[in-house]
Amino acid sequence: MEINKLSNFVGFFIIFSLMPLALSIKCWNCRSSTDPKCADPFDNSTVPITDCNQEKGLSHLPGMKPSMCRKIRQKVNGEWRYFRDCAYLGEVGIQGDERFCLMRTGTYNIFVEYCTCNSKDGCNSSSVISPLPIFLVVLVALSSFKIGL
Ligand SMILES: *[C@@H]1O[C@H](CO)[C@@H](O)[C@H](O)[C@H]1NC(C)=O
Repeated sequence: MEINKLSNFVGFFIIFSLMPLALSIKCWNCRSSTDPKCADPFDNSTVPITDCNQEKGLSHLPGMKPSMCRKIRQKVNGEWRYFRDCAYLGEVGIQGDERFCLMRTGTYNIFVEYCTCNSKDGCNSSSVISPLPIFLVVLVALSSFKIGL
């Protein structure tokens, strides 16, 4: 009983001491259309880093603060564009592994890749190892399912 109480206390302590960290992430904020250094390979020397807690918020999501960083890579008509900023919604990486990015092939001539992370301040600086194609995600999911059996 006493040990239970103690571990509860320790658990609460850990949760509450981690919370401020999770709630105040800083992210690189730039777009390659106005700052070429925003592209990959990323050069952080002149790019501003934003405390996401200071973001104004979104009108359609009142009271919500961004808790993640995001990098978007977009290919439009053969030209790459990069965006880095704070992220409000979305899943970190793929199945929680932020080395991987979500890919979307849109309509004609548009390709978009979303990389979302929350591991540390400025985590949206990194280039990914390689984007994981959807069929690979399915394979990984299937194989981990088999191992689970
Ligand atoms: C900027 O990039 C350099 C070199 O990659 C790195 O050592 C440094 O920690 C980065 N600065 C910040 C604030 O993350």
